[in-house]
Amino acid sequence: MPTLIRENVPLAPYTTFRLGGPARYFINARTVEDVVEGVKFALDRNLRILPLGAGSDVLISDSGFDGLVIRLANLRGVKVRGDRAYLMAGEPLPRIAREMAERGLSGFEYVVGVPGTVGGGVAKNAGAHGREIRDILVEAYVVDGEGNVRTYRRDELGLAYRSSLLPELGILVEALFKLEEDDPAAIRDRIEEFLTYRERSQPWTERTAGCMFKNPPGEYAGRLIDLAGLKGFRVGGVKVSEKHANFFVNEGGTADDAIRLIEYVRDRVRRAFGIELEVEIEIVR
Ligand code: EPU
Repeated sequence: MPTLIRENVPLAPYTTFRLGGPARYFINARTVEDVVEGVKFALDRNLRILPLGAGSDVLISDSGFDGLVIRLANLRGVKVRGDRAYLMAGEPLPRIAREMAERGLSGFEYVVGVPGTVGGGVAKNAGAHGREIRDILVEAYVVDGEGNVRTYRRDELGLAYRSSLLPELGILVEALFKLEEDDPAAIRDRIEEFLTYRERSQPWTERTAGCMFKNPPGEYAGRLIDLAGLKGFRVGGVKVSEKHANFFVNEGGTADDAIRLIEYVRDRVRRAFGIELEVEIEIVR
Protein backbone atom coordinates (compact mmCIF):
# COMPACT_ATOMS: atom_id res chain seq x y z
CA MET A 1 0.00 0.00 0.00
CA PRO A 2 1.51 3.41 -0.96
CA THR A 3 2.40 5.35 2.21
CA LEU A 4 0.18 8.34 1.37
CA ILE A 5 -2.97 6.25 1.30
CA ARG A 6 -4.84 5.63 4.54
CA GLU A 7 -7.71 3.24 5.18
CA ASN A 8 -11.07 3.69 6.87
CA VAL A 9 -10.85 7.46 7.39
CA PRO A 10 -13.91 9.29 8.85
CA LEU A 11 -15.14 11.87 6.33
CA ALA A 12 -17.55 13.97 8.43
CA PRO A 13 -14.73 16.25 9.73
CA TYR A 14 -13.78 17.00 6.12
CA THR A 15 -17.27 18.25 5.19
CA THR A 16 -18.99 21.52 6.10
CA PHE A 17 -22.18 19.57 6.93
CA ARG A 18 -20.16 17.40 9.37
CA LEU A 19 -22.10 14.32 8.29
CA GLY A 20 -21.31 10.93 6.80
CA GLY A 21 -19.30 7.75 7.37
CA PRO A 22 -15.72 6.77 6.47
CA ALA A 23 -13.80 6.46 3.23
CA ARG A 24 -12.42 2.98 2.51
CA TYR A 25 -9.25 4.66 1.18
CA PHE A 26 -8.17 8.28 1.58
CA ILE A 27 -5.33 10.41 0.27
CA ASN A 28 -4.55 13.96 1.37
CA ALA A 29 -2.96 15.23 -1.86
CA ARG A 30 -0.39 18.02 -1.62
CA THR A 31 1.02 17.79 -5.14
CA VAL A 32 -0.23 16.86 -8.61
CA GLU A 33 1.96 13.74 -8.33
CA ASP A 34 -0.02 12.69 -5.23
CA VAL A 35 -3.24 12.99 -7.26
CA VAL A 36 -1.74 10.89 -10.07
CA GLU A 37 -0.61 8.29 -7.52
CA GLY A 38 -4.14 8.15 -6.11
CA VAL A 39 -5.73 7.78 -9.54
CA LYS A 40 -3.37 4.91 -10.44
CA PHE A 41 -4.03 3.20 -7.10
CA ALA A 42 -7.77 3.40 -7.80
CA LEU A 43 -7.31 2.22 -11.39
CA ASP A 44 -5.34 -0.87 -10.28
CA ARG A 45 -8.04 -1.86 -7.82
CA ASN A 46 -11.04 -0.77 -9.88
CA LEU A 47 -12.12 1.72 -7.19
CA ARG A 48 -14.45 4.69 -7.60
CA ILE A 49 -12.84 8.08 -6.86
CA LEU A 50 -14.40 10.95 -4.93
CA PRO A 51 -12.52 14.26 -5.20
CA LEU A 52 -13.08 16.40 -2.10
CA GLY A 53 -12.24 20.08 -1.82
CA ALA A 54 -13.52 22.12 1.10
CA GLY A 55 -16.29 19.54 1.63
CA SER A 56 -19.13 21.97 0.97
CA ASP A 57 -21.90 21.07 -1.47
CA VAL A 58 -21.64 17.39 -0.53
CA LEU A 59 -23.63 14.95 1.60
CA ILE A 60 -21.82 11.71 2.38
CA SER A 61 -24.06 8.82 3.42
CA ASP A 62 -23.75 7.30 6.88
CA SER A 63 -22.19 4.17 5.39
CA GLY A 64 -19.43 6.31 3.86
CA PHE A 65 -17.68 5.85 0.52
CA ASP A 66 -16.45 2.44 -0.63
CA GLY A 67 -13.68 3.83 -2.87
CA LEU A 68 -10.79 6.31 -2.76
CA VAL A 69 -11.31 9.88 -1.56
CA ILE A 70 -8.73 12.26 -2.99
CA ARG A 71 -8.72 15.33 -0.77
CA LEU A 72 -7.49 18.40 -2.64
CA ALA A 73 -7.74 21.13 0.01
CA ASN A 74 -3.96 21.02 0.53
CA LEU A 75 -3.13 21.31 -3.16
CA ARG A 76 -2.29 25.00 -2.95
CA GLY A 77 -0.55 27.61 -5.04
CA VAL A 78 -1.12 30.93 -6.81
CA LYS A 79 0.79 32.31 -9.82
CA VAL A 80 -0.20 35.66 -11.28
CA ARG A 81 1.03 36.91 -14.68
CA GLY A 82 -0.48 40.31 -15.49
CA ASP A 83 -4.26 39.84 -15.49
CA ARG A 84 -4.02 36.02 -15.57
CA ALA A 85 -4.06 33.83 -12.47
CA TYR A 86 -3.04 30.15 -12.29
CA LEU A 87 -4.69 28.70 -9.21
CA MET A 88 -4.26 25.25 -7.71
CA ALA A 89 -7.45 23.28 -6.97
CA GLY A 90 -7.28 23.53 -3.17
CA GLU A 91 -7.14 27.32 -2.91
CA PRO A 92 -10.19 28.51 -0.93
CA LEU A 93 -12.44 30.82 -2.98
CA PRO A 94 -12.94 33.42 -0.19
CA ARG A 95 -9.17 33.73 0.27
CA ILE A 96 -8.62 34.06 -3.48
CA ALA A 97 -11.29 36.79 -3.66
CA ARG A 98 -9.35 38.83 -1.08
CA GLU A 99 -5.89 38.17 -2.51
CA MET A 100 -7.00 39.20 -6.01
CA ALA A 101 -8.58 42.37 -4.57
CA GLU A 102 -5.25 43.29 -2.98
CA ARG A 103 -3.55 42.70 -6.35
CA GLY A 104 -6.09 44.99 -8.04
CA LEU A 105 -7.63 42.12 -10.04
CA SER A 106 -11.41 41.93 -10.36
CA GLY A 107 -13.48 38.82 -11.17
CA PHE A 108 -13.41 36.69 -8.04
CA GLU A 109 -15.11 39.03 -5.58
CA TYR A 110 -18.56 37.47 -5.99
CA VAL A 111 -17.27 34.12 -4.59
CA VAL A 112 -16.06 35.67 -1.34
CA GLY A 113 -19.01 34.04 0.44
CA VAL A 114 -18.79 30.66 -1.30
CA PRO A 115 -17.29 28.17 1.18
CA GLY A 116 -15.55 26.10 -1.49
CA THR A 117 -12.26 25.69 -3.33
CA VAL A 118 -11.13 26.50 -6.87
CA GLY A 119 -11.58 22.83 -7.89
CA GLY A 120 -15.08 22.52 -6.49
CA GLY A 121 -15.93 25.98 -7.79
CA VAL A 122 -15.08 25.01 -11.38
CA ALA A 123 -16.63 21.53 -11.11
CA LYS A 124 -19.93 23.06 -9.91
CA ASN A 125 -19.54 26.31 -11.87
CA ALA A 126 -20.04 28.13 -8.56
CA GLY A 127 -22.12 31.25 -8.76
CA ALA A 128 -23.56 34.05 -6.71
CA HIS A 129 -24.83 37.57 -7.30
CA GLY A 130 -25.47 36.89 -10.99
CA ARG A 131 -21.91 35.79 -11.80
CA GLU A 132 -20.42 32.33 -12.36
CA ILE A 133 -16.95 30.80 -12.51
CA ARG A 134 -17.31 30.30 -16.29
CA ASP A 135 -17.28 34.10 -16.72
CA ILE A 136 -13.57 34.19 -15.77
CA LEU A 137 -12.25 30.69 -16.53
CA VAL A 138 -9.82 30.24 -19.45
CA GLU A 139 -8.76 26.60 -19.14
CA ALA A 140 -8.50 23.75 -16.67
CA TYR A 141 -5.75 21.17 -16.02
CA VAL A 142 -7.28 17.81 -15.21
CA VAL A 143 -5.90 14.40 -14.19
CA ASP A 144 -7.86 11.86 -16.24
CA GLY A 145 -8.85 8.32 -15.25
CA GLU A 146 -5.50 6.92 -16.43
CA GLY A 147 -3.41 9.43 -14.47
CA ASN A 148 -2.53 11.75 -17.39
CA VAL A 149 -2.74 15.54 -17.03
CA ARG A 150 -4.90 17.05 -19.77
CA THR A 151 -5.81 20.64 -20.64
CA TYR A 152 -9.42 21.58 -21.36
CA ARG A 153 -10.53 24.96 -22.68
CA ARG A 154 -13.51 26.55 -20.99
CA ASP A 155 -15.89 25.63 -23.83
CA GLU A 156 -14.90 21.95 -23.57
CA LEU A 157 -15.96 21.69 -19.92
CA GLY A 158 -19.74 21.77 -20.40
CA LEU A 159 -20.15 24.47 -17.76
CA ALA A 160 -23.82 25.05 -16.98
CA TYR A 161 -25.87 26.18 -13.97
CA ARG A 162 -24.11 24.48 -11.02
CA SER A 163 -22.71 21.68 -13.19
CA SER A 164 -19.92 20.68 -15.60
CA LEU A 165 -18.42 17.62 -17.30
CA LEU A 166 -15.58 17.46 -14.76
CA PRO A 167 -16.89 14.43 -12.85
CA GLU A 168 -16.51 12.43 -16.10
CA LEU A 169 -13.33 14.13 -17.38
CA GLY A 170 -11.27 13.70 -14.23
CA ILE A 171 -9.89 15.65 -11.29
CA LEU A 172 -9.12 19.32 -11.69
CA VAL A 173 -5.71 20.14 -10.24
CA GLU A 174 -5.17 23.69 -11.51
CA ALA A 175 -7.05 26.30 -13.53
CA LEU A 176 -6.26 29.50 -15.39
CA PHE A 177 -8.46 32.57 -14.98
CA LYS A 178 -8.57 35.88 -16.86
CA LEU A 179 -9.30 38.83 -14.58
CA GLU A 180 -9.70 42.57 -15.04
CA GLU A 181 -7.57 45.28 -13.53
CA ASP A 182 -9.47 47.52 -11.15
CA ASP A 183 -8.94 49.73 -8.10
CA PRO A 184 -8.35 47.52 -5.00
CA ALA A 185 -10.60 49.79 -2.89
CA ALA A 186 -13.48 49.41 -5.37
CA ILE A 187 -13.06 45.61 -5.39
CA ARG A 188 -12.95 45.56 -1.57
CA ASP A 189 -16.20 47.56 -1.46
CA ARG A 190 -17.93 44.94 -3.62
CA ILE A 191 -16.53 42.17 -1.40
CA GLU A 192 -18.02 43.86 1.68
CA GLU A 193 -21.35 44.26 -0.10
CA PHE A 194 -21.49 40.55 -1.02
CA LEU A 195 -20.50 39.49 2.50
CA THR A 196 -23.17 41.70 4.05
CA TYR A 197 -25.81 40.18 1.73
CA ARG A 198 -24.73 36.68 2.64
CA GLU A 199 -24.55 37.33 6.38
CA ARG A 200 -28.02 38.85 6.30
CA SER A 201 -29.65 36.14 4.17
CA GLN A 202 -27.79 32.85 4.82
CA PRO A 203 -26.99 30.70 7.91
CA TRP A 204 -23.26 31.10 7.33
CA THR A 205 -22.13 30.24 10.89
CA GLU A 206 -24.01 26.92 11.03
CA ARG A 207 -23.19 23.43 9.79
CA THR A 208 -24.70 23.35 6.31
CA ALA A 209 -23.79 22.03 2.85
CA GLY A 210 -24.71 25.29 1.06
CA CYS A 211 -27.90 25.49 -0.99
CA MET A 212 -29.56 22.05 -1.09
CA PHE A 213 -31.60 22.47 -4.28
CA LYS A 214 -31.08 24.20 -7.63
CA ASN A 215 -33.37 27.11 -8.33
CA PRO A 216 -36.08 25.91 -10.75
CA PRO A 217 -36.33 28.05 -13.94
CA GLY A 218 -37.82 31.43 -13.04
CA GLU A 219 -38.23 30.50 -9.37
CA TYR A 220 -36.27 30.26 -6.12
CA ALA A 221 -36.09 26.96 -4.24
CA GLY A 222 -35.74 28.85 -0.95
CA ARG A 223 -38.87 30.89 -1.60
CA LEU A 224 -40.92 27.77 -2.46
CA ILE A 225 -39.77 25.83 0.63
CA ASP A 226 -40.48 28.90 2.76
CA LEU A 227 -43.98 29.35 1.23
CA ALA A 228 -44.67 25.65 1.93
CA GLY A 229 -44.23 26.54 5.61
CA LEU A 230 -41.16 24.37 6.15
CA LYS A 231 -38.71 26.77 7.84
CA GLY A 232 -37.57 25.09 11.05
CA PHE A 233 -39.04 21.71 10.01
CA ARG A 234 -36.86 18.94 11.35
CA VAL A 235 -36.09 15.26 10.74
CA GLY A 236 -34.00 13.93 13.63
CA GLY A 237 -31.10 16.34 14.09
CA VAL A 238 -31.30 18.08 10.69
CA LYS A 239 -33.64 21.01 10.06
CA VAL A 240 -34.62 23.50 7.38
CA SER A 241 -32.87 26.76 8.25
CA GLU A 242 -35.09 29.48 9.68
CA LYS A 243 -32.87 32.06 8.00
CA HIS A 244 -32.88 30.68 4.43
CA ALA A 245 -35.12 27.74 3.54
CA ASN A 246 -32.77 26.34 0.87
CA PHE A 247 -30.19 25.51 3.55
CA PHE A 248 -30.40 22.54 5.93
CA VAL A 249 -28.70 22.86 9.31
CA ASN A 250 -27.08 19.88 11.02
CA GLU A 251 -27.67 20.08 14.76
CA GLY A 252 -26.27 16.67 15.68
CA GLY A 253 -28.14 14.53 13.17
CA THR A 254 -27.18 11.87 10.65
CA ALA A 255 -26.83 11.79 6.87
CA ASP A 256 -29.97 9.66 6.85
CA ASP A 257 -31.88 12.48 8.60
CA ALA A 258 -30.71 14.86 5.86
CA ILE A 259 -31.71 12.44 3.06
CA ARG A 260 -35.17 11.94 4.60
CA LEU A 261 -35.58 15.72 4.96
CA ILE A 262 -34.63 16.20 1.28
CA GLU A 263 -37.36 13.72 0.24
CA TYR A 264 -39.93 15.29 2.57
CA VAL A 265 -39.23 18.83 1.31
CA ARG A 266 -39.36 17.73 -2.34
CA ASP A 267 -42.67 15.99 -1.72
CA ARG A 268 -44.23 19.00 0.01
CA VAL A 269 -43.07 21.43 -2.71
CA ARG A 270 -44.33 19.05 -5.43
CA ARG A 271 -47.77 18.86 -3.79
CA ALA A 272 -48.02 22.59 -3.09
CA PHE A 273 -46.70 23.99 -6.39
CA GLY A 274 -46.36 21.07 -8.84
CA ILE A 275 -42.62 21.84 -9.07
CA GLU A 276 -39.95 19.13 -8.90
CA LEU A 277 -36.94 20.40 -6.93
CA GLU A 278 -33.60 19.12 -8.17
CA VAL A 279 -30.92 18.46 -5.56
CA GLU A 280 -27.88 20.74 -6.00
CA ILE A 281 -25.46 19.07 -3.60
CA GLU A 282 -23.66 15.80 -4.42
CA ILE A 283 -25.12 12.89 -2.49
CA VAL A 284 -22.36 10.31 -2.10
CA ARG A 285 -23.36 6.72 -1.32
N1 EPU B 1 -36.43 33.63 -0.22
C1 EPU B 1 -37.51 33.43 0.58
N2 EPU B 1 -37.36 32.64 1.70
C2 EPU B 1 -36.19 32.07 2.02
C3 EPU B 1 -35.08 32.27 1.18
C4 EPU B 1 -35.23 33.07 0.07
O1 EPU B 1 -38.60 33.94 0.32
O2 EPU B 1 -36.12 31.36 3.04
C5 EPU B 1 -36.56 34.54 -1.38
C6 EPU B 1 -35.75 35.82 -1.20
O3 EPU B 1 -36.50 36.78 -0.51
C7 EPU B 1 -35.48 36.23 -2.62
C8 EPU B 1 -35.38 34.88 -3.36
O4 EPU B 1 -36.01 33.91 -2.53
O5 EPU B 1 -36.56 36.94 -3.16
C9 EPU B 1 -33.94 34.49 -3.67
O6 EPU B 1 -33.19 34.39 -2.45
P1 EPU B 1 -31.62 34.74 -2.39
O7 EPU B 1 -31.39 36.13 -2.85
O8 EPU B 1 -31.14 34.35 -1.04
O9 EPU B 1 -30.96 33.84 -3.49
P2 EPU B 1 -31.12 32.29 -3.81
O10 EPU B 1 -31.60 32.17 -5.21
O11 EPU B 1 -31.86 31.57 -2.76
C10 EPU B 1 -28.75 32.03 -4.89
C11 EPU B 1 -27.79 30.87 -4.95
C12 EPU B 1 -26.84 30.95 -3.76
C13 EPU B 1 -26.13 32.28 -3.73
C14 EPU B 1 -27.18 33.39 -3.64
C15 EPU B 1 -26.59 34.78 -3.63
C16 EPU B 1 -28.80 28.85 -5.92
C17 EPU B 1 -29.49 27.56 -5.64
N3 EPU B 1 -28.51 29.61 -4.86
O12 EPU B 1 -29.58 31.81 -3.75
O13 EPU B 1 -25.87 29.92 -3.96
O14 EPU B 1 -25.25 32.36 -2.62
O15 EPU B 1 -28.06 33.28 -4.79
O16 EPU B 1 -26.22 35.17 -4.90
O17 EPU B 1 -28.53 29.16 -7.09
C18 EPU B 1 -25.28 27.63 -3.51
O18 EPU B 1 -25.25 27.46 -4.72
O19 EPU B 1 -24.95 26.71 -2.70
C19 EPU B 1 -25.73 28.91 -2.99
C20 EPU B 1 -25.95 29.10 -1.70
